[in-house]
Order: sequence, then C-alpha cells, then structure tokens
Amino acid sequence: MGSIFSYVFSFLAPAQQYDPTPDPTTGLTQRDREIIAHIWGLATDKKTLKSNAVEFFIQLFETYPHIQDRFELFKDKPLDELRTSPKMKAHATSVFYALTSYVENLDDPETLVGLVQKIAVSHVGRKIPADDFDKLRIVFLNFVKYLLGDQYTPEIEQAWDKLLRAQTAIYKQIEEELLSKKGTQEIPKTDI
Ligand code: HEM
Repeated sequence: MGSIFSYVFSFLAPAQQYDPTPDPTTGLTQRDREIIAHIWGLATDKKTLKSNAVEFFIQLFETYPHIQDRFELFKDKPLDELRTSPKMKAHATSVFYALTSYVENLDDPETLVGLVQKIAVSHVGRKIPADDFDKLRIVFLNFVKYLLGDQYTPEIEQAWDKLLRAQTAIYKQIEEELLSKKGTQEIPKTDI
C-alpha cells in the first residue's frame, strides 16, 4: 500500500500560509481540515471506496470481535465470508458515506455537529456505547496508516485523531442526555 498516495503532500501550501487558530468546536485547524479532506478524497476515490470501506470493517472486527457481535447481520460470520458479502459492502459503504458527509462539512462545524448527533441518536438507540466509538477511532487511525504506508505522518494522525475525538465527545454527550431522559442505566457507561 502507499503508492497511490505518493503525492499526498504535494497539494499542501507551506505551513505558515494556514491560519493556525483551531476551530473552537472541533479543535481542527485549517491545515488539519485540508489534510483530512485530501486524504479522504484519495481513500474514497470511486474505484476504491467500497473495497476500502470493507477492509476498514474487517480490521475493526479483527481488532474488536465484540464490535462484530453487535451486528445481527455479521456476528458469527467468518471474516473471509464478510469480505465478499453484499450486505457487508452495503453497510460499509453507507458508513463511509456518513464519514464523507462529515468531511464535506469540516468548514461548517454547526452542521458537522448535527450530523454526528444524528448518528449518535441512532446508535445510542441500538445500545452502542461511546467506548465502541472510541475503539473505532483507534482502528480508523491504524487504517489510515495502512492506506498511506510510509506517507503516514504524525500530522496526519493528529488531524484525524482530533476529528474522531470530537465525534466521540459529541456521542458521549448525546448518550448522557438520552440516558438521563430515560432514567435508566441500560447503556454501559464509559470513562471517555
Ligand atoms: C463501533 C462503533 C459502531 C457500531 C458498533 C455500529 C453499529 C451499527 C449497527 C448495529 C447498525 C445497524 C446495522 C443494520 O441493522 O443493518 C449501524 C448502522 C449504521 N451505522 Fe453504525 N456503528 C458504529 C459506528 C458508526 C459510525 C462511526 C458511523 C458513521 C460515521 C456509523 C454509521 C452508520 C450508518 C450510516 C448506519 C445505517 C443508518 C443508520 O441506521 O443510522 N456507524 N451501525
């Protein structure tokens, strides 16, 4: 891996040309946002989106089998079978489209937060704990590393890490709100 990304940084202007002020909502700087958008564009090129999306889920399930078990459709299925399963392809693709909607709204934090909140509401409803979203963050960073090979840098990692931590923080907020409304402890609490 890595060859198609060999020009990964040729698009960036020198660091001093970017406004270094972090966005107060997401913590992302202008340069972080450009890095994320550019890398996402490469990872979701029409020809590779589906296979990258499936590969990400395989890595997620390999690392955290309990997350695989949360999917009625996928639990107990061998990963080799999931690699070619149309249902896996469809699900993975819809998750990558959701991530694309985040990336397309990096410059509009209000909408970005709204998009994450929608995902959070639907997933808290499925009893997915915030802790799983944070585990997904770790697997996702490794996945970007896997895609970029020796093009991966700490700057890329930090940019994605900020976005995914913002996602987890929003998730946790929604989880707490919904739990307190429900007055139940059904959804496992986490210490994120
Ligand atoms: C480890 C964390 C996560 C778990 C365990 C999880 C689990 C699930 C489950 C069980 C479903 C229902 C699948 C079905 O019945 O067909 C689902 C649907 C979905 N998930 Fe996730 N998910 C996680 C993270 C995410 C993230 C980070 C995103 C997007 C950024 C996402 C986007 C979606 C979408 C778009 C759907 C289908 C539409 C919907 O119901 O909202 N998921 N997820």
